Amino acid sequence: MNKNISIIINGKSVEALVEPRTSLADFLRDKQRLTGTKLACEHGVCGACTVLINGAPGRACITFAATLDGAKIQTIEGFENDDVMEVVRNAFHTKHGLQCGFCTAGMLITARDIVTRFPNADEQTIRTELSGNLCRCTGYMGIVKAVQKVLEEMPAKERVRNPVIPKNPTQTFPFKTFQPKSSTQTNTSSKRMTAKRVSEKDVDGWIRLTDRFIVARNRDETWRLFSDFARMASCMPGASLTKADGDQLEGQVRIAFGPIRASFKGNATVQRDDKNYEGVIAGGGNDSSSGSRAKGQVTYQLLGGNSGENTIVNLTLEFQLQGALAQFSRVGLIQEFSARLISSFAKNLSDEIEGRRKENGDKTELRVSGLVWSVLAARLKALWLKISGIGSSNRSRS
Ligand code: FES
Ligand code: FES
Repeated sequence: MNKNISIIINGKSVEALVEPRTSLADFLRDKQRLTGTKLACEHGVCGACTVLINGAPGRACITFAATLDGAKIQTIEGFENDDVMEVVRNAFHTKHGLQCGFCTAGMLITARDIVTRFPNADEQTIRTELSGNLCRCTGYMGIVKAVQKVLEEMPAKERVRNPVIPKNPTQTFPFKTFQPKSSTQTNTSSKRMTAKRVSEKDVDGWIRLTDRFIVARNRDETWRLFSDFARMASCMPGASLTKADGDQLEGQVRIAFGPIRASFKGNATVQRDDKNYEGVIAGGGNDSSSGSRAKGQVTYQLLGGNSGENTIVNLTLEFQLQGALAQFSRVGLIQEFSARLISSFAKNLSDEIEGRRKENGDKTELRVSGLVWSVLAARLKALWLKISGIGSSNRSRS
């Protein structure tokens, strides 16, 4: 069923009736005649269709127009009077940052985003931030030099709007200050684990997700599993532990994202507080084939009385991806994907503790595409329910 949306495109209010399947890119190009937004891969990979969605770069090819009611969109045509974009455009011209020009609209929007967030990005940061935009012509040298030129010649105070504050959680692993939950928050009637996303946000390039679920076992028994890292790792889709030496862990996570395969190998350090039933696992890893890097930490806390038969598990996942795979963290899908990853982990963990766990393929490889498609399917379902007026409380997220 079609949906009425009201959005602001390049500062102008637009009301339109859109089909659920219409992408933002098609809507911009075919209905608004804004053909500066290019389409190439149409799979969220190349970045040619990059536009600003509520101020952040997003993929117009994999964003459904029907999910954008109330959003602000800025396409390449909307930067005509933008001071920063003017300097970026001139730098691309001077430094030969384009050839055929097909990637250039998306590349300019990403380049502008870099110089407005980083006061002094070095070459590595520029290349990492550009890694979600592909160019078949230039070899990237001219593009990188163009961004460097803007950083050198335009004072930071004239361009930086959302500064990136460097943060590296792998350097220190402070325990979080947890707020004790009241006993009324314990769902003692639940025999089965239920996973629930409590909050999520993306700050300073870090993706943070917080989940809470209930395990039908007491806190000491649950804590014993959280002390057995090999069993814990076996519950995380795609993860395996190769070495555990005291508080030092070594392992790998295998991911398949369509044709892209990555195997992150790395180390982690564990800090545990047995008295308060909480801990932090922090570390990072590299995938040599794609040149991608990941770093992050998992914070966990168990709540509940030992006489009770249920334990509440609070999990917080914070991570940052860099390199070729980082492009997937720009599209908003990664948050939902990560939330589902946590849910899978929570379910496996609960099944493991409760003796219901069956061995399956999850252990050998994390198939991101399947999860992403399930995310898309869930969005479409929520959208369909909303449009058809069934279950108005269902959320659909952009
Ligand atoms: Fe959208 Fe390639 S066309 S990412
Ligand atoms: Fe041709 Fe980038 S200039 S694809």
